[in-house]
Amino acid sequence: MSKDLSNYRKSYEKQELLETSCPENPIELFQSWFLTADEDERVDESNAMTVSSIGLDGYPKSRVVLLKKYTWEGFIFYTNYESEKGKAILANNKICLSFFWSGLEQQIIIKGEAEKLAENLSDGYFESRPDGSKLGAWASKQSSVVASREVLDKELASLQEKYHQKEIPRPPHWGGFLVRPFSIEFWQGRPNRMHDRIRYTLQKDFSWKIERLAP
Ligand SMILES: Cc1cc2nc3c(=O)[nH]c(=O)nc-3n(C[C@H](O)[C@H](O)[C@H](O)COP(=O)(O)O)c2cc1C
Repeated sequence: MSKDLSNYRKSYEKQELLETSCPENPIELFQSWFLTADEDERVDESNAMTVSSIGLDGYPKSRVVLLKKYTWEGFIFYTNYESEKGKAILANNKICLSFFWSGLEQQIIIKGEAEKLAENLSDGYFESRPDGSKLGAWASKQSSVVASREVLDKELASLQEKYHQKEIPRPPHWGGFLVRPFSIEFWQGRPNRMHDRIRYTLQKDFSWKIERLAP
């Protein structure tokens, strides 16, 4: 089977990104882009981002997770620390986050170092989740092989019984990662493949160097 996609072509014409509209701190620009994406009906799940890490097997792997918070310090997502990605990130904390908002012809690529979020912050977020999600975090040994769907459903049912009308604690193997960025690239599609790419790089004095990259 084959399918030729060489005619798939789109001209990007929606917006531009010029140095004159770049604040000193990239988190400010991230916030401005994110808020716009969040309100735009052409963007579904604006906080869905791809996390790429180098696995214990030496291969890079990317998967989508949800950004749950950003601050001046960085970007926070939650996962199972014993999952494939959890183990990979704990062994090599240099990771990449990326967003692609097709409706806005925008991409953001963040390189940074991940660290486990403080336990009290993970507790606070876990507490805010619906019971079903809390139990899901207990029920799923994320990334391990399971014999069948039935096994998962049975595990969830037995946890529902165990925790019926009881407080569900945060599993010790589940929590947040804070990704402290050292480089953030903003990509805005432009006509004729002459896209705008502005990269911020963190300097030793904690200021950010701003450079334009060729498309
Ligand atoms: C839209 C979307 C949101 C997701 N959000 C999360 C998330 O916040 N945390 C998470 O651990 N997995 C999330 N997942 C599942 C991951 O993509 C992935 O399947 C899972 O984390 C296991 O990855 P791993 O085996 O590489 O560790 C999400 C998937 C999708 C498609």
